[in-house]
Amino acid sequence: MLLLGIDLGTSSIKVAVVDATTQRTLVTAQYPETEATILTRQPGWAEQSPETWWEYVQQAIRKAHGSGGYDPGDIAAIGIAYQMHGLVAVDKDRRVLRDSIIWCDSRAVPYGDGAFAAIGEQRSLSHLLNSPGNFTAAKLAWVKDQEPRIYEKIDRIMLPGDYIALRLTGEVTTSIPALSEGIFWDFQEDGLSEDVFNYFGFDKSLIPAIQPVFSAHGELQAEVAQALSLKKGIPVTYKAGDQPNNALSLNVLEPGEVAATAGTSGVIYGVSDRLVYDPASRVNSFAHVNYTEKEKRVGVLLCINGTGILNRWIRDHTGGGADYASLNREAALIRPGSEGLVVLPFGNGAERIFNNRIIGAQIQHIDLNQHGAAHLYRAGQEGIAFAFRYGLDIMREGGMNPSVIRAGRANMFLSSVFTEAFVNATQTPVELYDSDGSVGAALGAGIGAGIFRSGKEAFAGRLPLERVDPVRAGEYEGLYQRWKEVLNKYL
Ligand code: XUL
Repeated sequence: MLLLGIDLGTSSIKVAVVDATTQRTLVTAQYPETEATILTRQPGWAEQSPETWWEYVQQAIRKAHGSGGYDPGDIAAIGIAYQMHGLVAVDKDRRVLRDSIIWCDSRAVPYGDGAFAAIGEQRSLSHLLNSPGNFTAAKLAWVKDQEPRIYEKIDRIMLPGDYIALRLTGEVTTSIPALSEGIFWDFQEDGLSEDVFNYFGFDKSLIPAIQPVFSAHGELQAEVAQALSLKKGIPVTYKAGDQPNNALSLNVLEPGEVAATAGTSGVIYGVSDRLVYDPASRVNSFAHVNYTEKEKRVGVLLCINGTGILNRWIRDHTGGGADYASLNREAALIRPGSEGLVVLPFGNGAERIFNNRIIGAQIQHIDLNQHGAAHLYRAGQEGIAFAFRYGLDIMREGGMNPSVIRAGRANMFLSSVFTEAFVNATQTPVELYDSDGSVGAALGAGIGAGIFRSGKEAFAGRLPLERVDPVRAGEYEGLYQRWKEVLNKYL
């Protein structure tokens, strides 16, 4: 029996086909090959078309089938991981009403700030675990205010992964973690937040049926099944945000366990069994995939918006089209500290660690006689690692102090320069696993289909490929302090 995992990222769609019996990944495929675009109609805006996501999902599935490594008819369940906090709005005929306002779009900050003040900071933090900030509810408030004609036509709103499930099954559902990442969920009342719905004037009927993360979210429609050479009626049994999904796939489910990713954005995600929050909303708390009313499992999430997207920008605009492997090799020839060149990686929208301020990416202290492209490659990766350290210090203030961080050997963690800078700047060892969001989504589908009894059972057999320990922490501490001095000029 096979499981299909779909990971709807910002840069591309990845799919994986996993054998449920052996837990072995048979095939992975990605579409498009080069990074997908983010539509920026105005500064600070970031949109993508849900129909394009769906097109890419189909292409990626067909590409995986093209490998010939399995019989598509053996796929028994589908799991979906997706970029978090985005807004998809459909009318009563399930037609998309506008492009999705995605996670790194900054336009809704004033709406979230208004709600935070009106609901009351303490009440907001204790009930929502966050300021409404710049998340899905605030994005919907922007649509209501700025595009009332579109708002009137909305029948259901959803997160990006819910939309992919809708296209597959014709049904739309959501979950507590999804509602919490949109800041629609009241953790004290364990229900939709009256505060948020009343303040913004939203009708609760906009919210799809709430289902457990690991449950049947609909069955594959006949025409879709035919178009994708899949069996009609197979269920979507798992949907989760990409960060909780990454945590699941690294077996990060219990208090004190911590995962990281460094894709388009960078995240450190630690699990708590209490309703914890950052009083300044610089790091966020959302319901984890295994959150239940009885057993609270909250993911404390530090997000750096400008991570792989900064590395990509440097590659595209200074690298003469170099591939990432050669960029990493060249960066490794430069000494730690990039001979004084400093990069602040914050050019992808409002950064939560700075209370949603937009300070832009900065390149500082260029010595025209000394620095070349390789210095920039290295300084970019170091700057991202230092941003993680800055954020981890906030998490530590809140009591989340990891003794080890688990990550997939993917994206930025493929770079030894980045990994060394991350480990030494944060003074925390990293265990690297052969793990990927789409594989996590496939195994998540196995949990939802009842093939595995728990996340532990689905992922427990996985051993790290490598552990990287901090051996130059003193040196990197000095470099971090110098980076922070540059940052302070912008705060
Ligand atoms: C997490 C976040 C990003 C997106 C990227 O809170 O906003 O990491 O999930 O897909």
